[in-house]
Amino acid sequence: MLTSRQKHCLQGMGISLWQSRPAGDLSSAAVMAKEVQTAYTDQQDSFEHITTATQSTPADLQPDHNPKQPAKTYDLSNWTGLTQSIEDCQNCTLAQSCTRKVPGKGYQEADLMIIGEAPGHEEDLQGRPFVGRAGQVLDKMLMAIEIDPQQVYVTNILKCRPPQNRDPQTHEVHACSSFLKAQIDLVNPKVIFSVGRISAQNLLQDTSPVGRLRGEQYHLPGTDIPLLVTYHPAYLLRNPIEKAKVWEDLKKLRRLIEHAAD
Ligand code: URA
Repeated sequence: MLTSRQKHCLQGMGISLWQSRPAGDLSSAAVMAKEVQTAYTDQQDSFEHITTATQSTPADLQPDHNPKQPAKTYDLSNWTGLTQSIEDCQNCTLAQSCTRKVPGKGYQEADLMIIGEAPGHEEDLQGRPFVGRAGQVLDKMLMAIEIDPQQVYVTNILKCRPPQNRDPQTHEVHACSSFLKAQIDLVNPKVIFSVGRISAQNLLQDTSPVGRLRGEQYHLPGTDIPLLVTYHPAYLLRNPIEKAKVWEDLKKLRRLIEHAAD
């Protein structure tokens, strides 16, 4: 049974609550299955950094390296060094095209870490992840399972916005990878929730569509941190039929966090 608060949050997400259907009506499971078949195309990127690096020498790393930029070494094992290194980073050309760097937000000792794709327009202006429409949906998703969005740490695979929100390129993911690795080490979350195709494929090093990756429990490769995958909140805005599946993922997440806290 749902509490009235959960019902309210679910309605806020646009999720219709279950009602009995007349006999002969197409089952919602069949409708959802049809949606999944058409939902996603494959895309590959790599994320091999995730098991390495407590320090980075960003100016040395990538094809976009600007030879005029002197190489600096940053201590990524504390929040001050990490934040400064992201602010100073020129590892790839996104550093020049973005308005602001978007390191992360939230509680630095959170049990739950949420990893999205890359900043969008609003995030690029404000320098904070998930502050636009997708962020509002993400907050509602968390509140639906009675998790306070302020008690979670939120970041992205990329810390700079790609132009026109295009998909991150492999070398950009690599260029940002030591920052994400350092964030995970510092937060040391009990559970990671990966939202969207780009996040899931890069974290799991698996090019399967997100519709196939969700529903299973993983560990972040090279660690014992449990990881669940779900659809991106922005995708939900375009495909509200998938909200029922996200609700299943959220209930799984809630159970996993409770279990991890034991
Ligand atoms: N989408 C993301 O993946 N991250 C954000 O920060 C905003 C939108």
